[in-house]
Amino acid sequence: MPWSSAEKAPPALAIGPWALPSPFLLAPMAGLTNWPFRRLALQYGAGLATTEMVSSVALSFRGQKTLRLLKTDPALERPFHVQLFGRDPERLAEAAKVAVGHGADAVDLNFGCPARKVVNSGHGAAILKDFKLAESLAKAVAQAVTVPVTVKTRIAWAPGWPSVFDLAPRLVDCGVAAITLHGRYAAQGFTGEADWEAVARLAAHSPVPVIGSGDLTTARLAAQRLKDSGAAGAMIGRAAKGRPWIFRQSLAAFAGMEPEEPSLAERLAAATVHARWLLEEMGPRAAFLLRTVLIWYVRELPGSAALREAINRETDVERQLESLVRFFEAGRFEPESGAEKGPL
Ligand SMILES: Cc1cc2nc3c(=O)[nH]c(=O)nc-3n(C[C@H](O)[C@H](O)[C@H](O)COP(=O)(O)O)c2cc1C
Repeated sequence: MPWSSAEKAPPALAIGPWALPSPFLLAPMAGLTNWPFRRLALQYGAGLATTEMVSSVALSFRGQKTLRLLKTDPALERPFHVQLFGRDPERLAEAAKVAVGHGADAVDLNFGCPARKVVNSGHGAAILKDFKLAESLAKAVAQAVTVPVTVKTRIAWAPGWPSVFDLAPRLVDCGVAAITLHGRYAAQGFTGEADWEAVARLAAHSPVPVIGSGDLTTARLAAQRLKDSGAAGAMIGRAAKGRPWIFRQSLAAFAGMEPEEPSLAERLAAATVHARWLLEEMGPRAAFLLRTVLIWYVRELPGSAALREAINRETDVERQLESLVRFFEAGRFEPESGAEKGPL
């Protein structure tokens, strides 16, 4: 345990019967939080890692492409937290059953995605415009499965609209076991700053655990926000890209210790493992994502622009990895002096 006294122990976070080993969690990110990324985050101490949002319609039809999003290893990922989106209670309930049949230990409902194509079809954050629908969705899923059901949402559709402070108790009445609040209005997209006062306010009144999300750009900030808000957990999204050690660092920061930066060898090892797992998982389909992922790991290192170009030019994965190794071996940069950087 990285913390040394009871006062420094982070809050205990449980999702239904699942006591999580850490309150610092990997946020769901579409196209990114596949099994390789989640596995790495969990290895670095994330208490939970949520899948990207999965279409309930596609999942209820058991489409092969969609079922791939449910890839996990039950020996390494418990609880397996699958996020679904949908606006038809029956379909969503059916999809939740399929997810549970494929190993889901908990199901999360996406009531927060503000992407245009998602909200234009009435999904994601659009659910926040209709609390009756939100209740029907939560109730249908909670009645369909025996695993805990959680919801991830935003403060409200926009200022002036009914807010999560009204919605949360209704969701809890429907059987929802935890609520993640990304402290922005849907209409804000990702602009402005996440409002952690809103997270604190919800946490203070909620009978179920509240997990805060938004702008946790460093381990220190994640630890600080968790402490100050009184939330039961904190989700880290963008700042975990290429920095899976942020989960280990956040626990250290919570205990008042200096968050240790990874050595260059550790950075290279993490990048290589991430790439290898993606390849194992996706084969040739990994090519585009793999480039992105490799670049995450070097972006904050001086002199990485040339490597980035080389990786983008190169089509052969093994050669991309060789370029990466050469970059680290050449060591034409000074290791960071423990200073934390913002999100990549
Ligand atoms: C690329 C990307 C994809 C995302 N996909 C999802 C998603 O599938 N489901 C979801 O609930 N939130 C999604 N989010 C929102 C994150 O889970 C998180 O709430 C948000 O990014 C704020 O946290 P951060 O500042 O730590 O990144 C996504 C965010 C990003 C940047």
